[in-house]
Amino acid sequence: MTLSTASSDPADHAAPILVKDRYFKPLLSKEAIAQRLAHLGKRIEADYQNDLPLFIGVLNGSFVFAADLVRYIAIPCHFSFVKYASYQDKMQSSGVVQELIGLNENLSNRRVVVIEDIVDTGNTMVKILAYLREKGVEDVEIAALLVKPTALQHDISVKYVGFEIENQFVVGYGLDYDGYGRNLDSLYVVSDL
Ligand code: IMP
Repeated sequence: MTLSTASSDPADHAAPILVKDRYFKPLLSKEAIAQRLAHLGKRIEADYQNDLPLFIGVLNGSFVFAADLVRYIAIPCHFSFVKYASYQDKMQSSGVVQELIGLNENLSNRRVVVIEDIVDTGNTMVKILAYLREKGVEDVEIAALLVKPTALQHDISVKYVGFEIENQFVVGYGLDYDGYGRNLDSLYVVSDL
């Protein structure tokens, strides 16, 4: 689903909010997100009926998305989180990917779905995919709440896309601005007010 910042979502007409020291305007309401997640969840459920998929959420940003998405998937599955940091500048992807930690499962011959908050340049995801393939997974797909197609620098395919957005900084629903805003229950985009 492609989303323009000139969306007709009523949330767009609400007042901007201050997160730390920048203003953000509403981009996607929690209702719109929930509706999209229900759709994605059903697709994933249908694709992995008898496969005992392993869902891997990428911390910190995916913790809200992952928790909500898996509750729309009613088949046997395993779930794990990994953590690393690639976004150290306040509003710019550093492109530096650090070591992946937290994965204790045997990945050999597993069908894996990586659950990510946002695919921006794709630097992070390329490393994660390489790591998982090296560990012998049967196959791996990506579920991303948001994708910024014009920022993408790698040839990666995101099978389960929540929303495609413009190349603008967003916050809320797990995503942060300098550590702030993860607890917002909907998504906001930086505003130039
Ligand atoms: P990538 O490696 O450039 O694809 O960046 C992936 C990570 O950067 C995401 O998992 C987020 O943590 C962070 N990121 C990218 N864009 C945004 C944004 O607009 N808001 C908040 N975090 C972002």
